[in-house]
Amino acid sequence: MSKSRKDELTAILKVHDQAYYRDGKPTIGDREYDRLKAELESIISLEDPLGLFSLDEESDSAISEDDIPLVGDDRLEAFLSHRHLMPMLSLDNTYDRDEFFEFDQRLNRVLEAGSSAYVVEPKIDGVAVSLTYKNGILTEATTRGNGIEGDVITQNILHIPQLPKKIDDPSFPLLIEIRGEIFMSHSEFERINLERLKEGLDLYANPRNLTAGTVKLLDPKEARQRQLEIVLYGLGGVEPLNRFAYQSEFHELVKSWGFPTVEFIEKVSSVEAAWNAILSLDKLRESYSYPTDGAVVKLDSFALQREAGTTAKAPRWAIAYKFESERADTLLNDIQLQVGRTGVITPVAHLHPVQLAGTTVSRASLHNSDEIQRKDIRIGDIVVVEKAGEIIPQVIEVVLSRRRESSSPYLFPSHCPCCQTRLVRSEGESAWRCTNYQCTDQVKGRLEYYASRGCMNIDHLGEAVISQLVGLGYVKDLSDLYSLDKNQVLNLDGFAEKSAINLLSSVDSSKSQDFWRFICGLGIKHVGVTASKSLAREFKSIDKLIEAKIEDLTEMDGVGEVMAQSVVGFFMSENNLSMIKKLQGYGVNLAIPAEESGQNLPFTGKTFVLTGTLTHFNREDAGLKIEAKGGKVSSSVSKKTSYVVAGPGAGSKLTKAEKLEIPVLTEFEFLDMLNK
Ligand code: IVH
Repeated sequence: MSKSRKDELTAILKVHDQAYYRDGKPTIGDREYDRLKAELESIISLEDPLGLFSLDEESDSAISEDDIPLVGDDRLEAFLSHRHLMPMLSLDNTYDRDEFFEFDQRLNRVLEAGSSAYVVEPKIDGVAVSLTYKNGILTEATTRGNGIEGDVITQNILHIPQLPKKIDDPSFPLLIEIRGEIFMSHSEFERINLERLKEGLDLYANPRNLTAGTVKLLDPKEARQRQLEIVLYGLGGVEPLNRFAYQSEFHELVKSWGFPTVEFIEKVSSVEAAWNAILSLDKLRESYSYPTDGAVVKLDSFALQREAGTTAKAPRWAIAYKFESERADTLLNDIQLQVGRTGVITPVAHLHPVQLAGTTVSRASLHNSDEIQRKDIRIGDIVVVEKAGEIIPQVIEVVLSRRRESSSPYLFPSHCPCCQTRLVRSEGESAWRCTNYQCTDQVKGRLEYYASRGCMNIDHLGEAVISQLVGLGYVKDLSDLYSLDKNQVLNLDGFAEKSAINLLSSVDSSKSQDFWRFICGLGIKHVGVTASKSLAREFKSIDKLIEAKIEDLTEMDGVGEVMAQSVVGFFMSENNLSMIKKLQGYGVNLAIPAEESGQNLPFTGKTFVLTGTLTHFNREDAGLKIEAKGGKVSSSVSKKTSYVVAGPGAGSKLTKAEKLEIPVLTEFEFLDMLNK
């Protein structure tokens, strides 16, 4: 196998890992990803047939930071990190029956006495979590992170009703990591996406992505609005040392301690019986409350698991058999390009309608030109479409045996389908863009976004109306909305006296919308609702926000370099500045009113950092109280911190506060200050 294919696959997988683990927005399905990963692994194993570069048995401690990329990395800067007592590994997987039987043979070559005593469990398609309990109390919920350490997401999952916060059972270990998955029901997923649709926000592709996005929200209050669920199946580190003998026994204990567990755990003693259990599971899994994408087969005995050991990436004692998701073949009638509000060009497959997973599918995502090229998708091809929990079906591949001889490769257009401007592609980006700020499709997209429920929430100003307003040349940018007159509106299809007045009056009342909604409505790349609220709170007026420098922005909680660059870049554009000036002239509210901005409250201008355990209230309540008095809460200590409130167990933040000579308050001193 050529080195270049290996490099290419490594680079492709890196892009997909970033999209999946960090951004929560994968652009390919699991099956496709697994196939690329398997290809890379087969190249590596050809180069290293003896597996010298994978780590050997038992020694979990042998997994060092050097091995980190092998399981991806979901960590984000804004979160506290927590080191796992026992690394969180990935699982080898297969879609193939023969490969599953080979797993059993391989394992039996490693085990001295041999064994096929397995447990077969559902593979839950959620977000992996590790719960740490100290003396029976839940202290941290942590994501997998890079396998060695993960992000602390406790506050975002505490509202899960089935999650035990305290275990009184005397048999419960002093210190234990219990592993499982957080997931979201299909109905909750649909409820949230419907809300987002109404608000003009991007939709989540599937419940797993939405769950991943929810556990990583910076604001636990927002996380609480979304119903998450949890299921536990595994053991991480434990003290005193692991005295459990079998995975099946551990399942029983987890259940008896009051944790939600999986309902299907079949103990088998041969690989054939394991295979039959996999087939039965496939029939039953539809009825489970959590989404499943396969079965996990594990050696039942913990002692044998230890004997089999792990590679750097996955245990040798377990394998995931993944079920194929629903697919169908259909004709690709056309590829059409959509121009988004930021100029990004998205190719969309127009298909001959086909039934798939209970719905009729006539469109599917093609992502970008590279994907079309890589899969050599041509108009007139018969293509395989898949819907694996995603709401948007994907074109997986072409059925080459059914390709017409007359077909020719698809040539990605070089010019914008709307305004004919030459398309450009920046280095490292997969998308082509139309750079014409005046491009009608972009203008329409920006207006739709500005008027949407999540932003300025302007009634009666939907897609069809905007399309006419732009088409007739009445509106060229956001500010033109406020100079519309009744005669112009009466010229639009479907408008009469009363409806025209209604539209104009909703546009007019949007002038007094909250400042954060206006920021959001500007459609600055990477700036959504949460960031808009923070920017409004921090800068209080558009004039101050326009002046903000990169450093001012990156100092804020939840604002990274990329978002800061995007904000500063937006306000460097002359077009944007002159539009904002016009909006100001029309009387659109571009600030937080002085009485709301907490100018004269007792904590105005003060920043607090909370650390350690608080006994009188949880972190979030304390934060709300601080904000109600005009103060701010930050998660990290810097020169700008006014006070650090430290409870028992405070660690590095307290040390840093002492080093920077920042006043440290006990919880009681803080209470006193609050009550004054
Ligand atoms: S056992 C050492 N059991 O799938 C890793 N994992 O694709 C042992 N998963 O990282 C993991 N259901 O997050 C195990 N019944 C199950 C599972 C399961 C889902 C997840 C887990 C793992 C990932 C690998």
